[in-house]
Amino acid sequence: MIPSQHRPTLPQPDPDALSVSEALTAQLRDHIVERGWLSFADYMALALYRPGLGYYAGGGAKFGQGGDFITAPELSPLFGACVAETIAPVLAALNGGDILEFGAGTGQLAAQVLAELERLDQLPQRYLIVDLSAELADRQRATLHTLVPHLADRVSWLSTLPDQLHGFVLGNEVLDAIPCNLIYRDAAGALFERGVVWKDGFTWEDRLLVPGPLLDLASALDLPCNYLTEIQPQMHGFIASVGHMLQRGAALFIDYGFPASEYYHPQRSGGTLMAHYRHHSLDDPFFLPGLADLTCHVDFSAVYSAADAAGLQLEGYTSQAQYLLDTGLTGRLGRLPEAQYPVAASAVHKLTSPAEMGELFKAMALSRNLPLTTLLPGFRHADDSFRL
Ligand SMILES: C[S@@+](CC[C@H](N)C(=O)[O-])C[C@H]1O[C@@H](n2cnc3c(N)ncnc32)[C@H](O)[C@@H]1O
Repeated sequence: MIPSQHRPTLPQPDPDALSVSEALTAQLRDHIVERGWLSFADYMALALYRPGLGYYAGGGAKFGQGGDFITAPELSPLFGACVAETIAPVLAALNGGDILEFGAGTGQLAAQVLAELERLDQLPQRYLIVDLSAELADRQRATLHTLVPHLADRVSWLSTLPDQLHGFVLGNEVLDAIPCNLIYRDAAGALFERGVVWKDGFTWEDRLLVPGPLLDLASALDLPCNYLTEIQPQMHGFIASVGHMLQRGAALFIDYGFPASEYYHPQRSGGTLMAHYRHHSLDDPFFLPGLADLTCHVDFSAVYSAADAAGLQLEGYTSQAQYLLDTGLTGRLGRLPEAQYPVAASAVHKLTSPAEMGELFKAMALSRNLPLTTLLPGFRHADDSFRL
């Protein structure tokens, strides 16, 4: 049960949800007890993706008002129309090609992108979706059949990446869902990995980092002392596989995060790890396992360096607000029928306001062998690549 004396405002889960969380907690406990200690990345992977029980693998609402958080495509179809604006010239330059979307959520973004690309007469040959969650793939199918039934047969779901892709790779709020490792630098400057042990409940235990890739990544950051933060070695592997697959075309990742200089700023001494439950952001990642999303912000300098190592070229990096303005968000809003305007204007405010998603969220475009002579829509008027 949620200890309501400490969290008076949080809604209670229903009994079925609570029993899922209890079952996952028991599995996590057994897993930890067997091993003695679990890295937080392994804890997060199980809490999010454990088949049948993990947050993304279970049947909870997750997205929207009745869920735990709202993402940009859930706020307004104008978001997907803007993303299509970036995709269209890439498909045109390649004389066709496929789109591959990672982590397609409820399928809203796929439906929005396909609808706008149809209007622009630039539909992809295939729209491929790769999602770790089988439960969400079912929802994506239903959304596409409802919103763009005549285009649904272009969409297919893959359990592994294709060897080669010519076209466009898309991921909105996917990088933040990649499990992170927690790194602590103590007062004496020693580097530890913070992991999870079981002592009548989940609790933290630090282990001195031993020589290896994690120590290399952590040492390179030159962290201040008394400092807790996250790094995402698995994100490097993820971007490497995108680089391996993308033979010709571009990739677009949108997510909340910063360049390394801001991410690892001395004042951010407690890191960015958060749990999201029913529209509350909690700093306790052990809160109701399986019923709360776990995320960390994205270090876009690390994404850039992983992309560079994978042979991908940086096409642009900017705030979500600048990206959406450059892809015609305000013009699209102005062309809407009057009846749709108030709701859409409120969504546009959320997507672009510096106090909401506008500045915290960033867009990054990457490419390989892209025969384009002009800058990609989204990055023509403001490019913050120099910050990476
Ligand atoms: C926060 S949700 C974002 C969903 C959607 N893109 C949106 O904007 O509404 C994260 C999604 O990423 C998926 N995901 C996380 N890591 C992934 C990976 N390595 N490959 C494919 N999907 C992944 C999750 O299953 C989930 O659907």
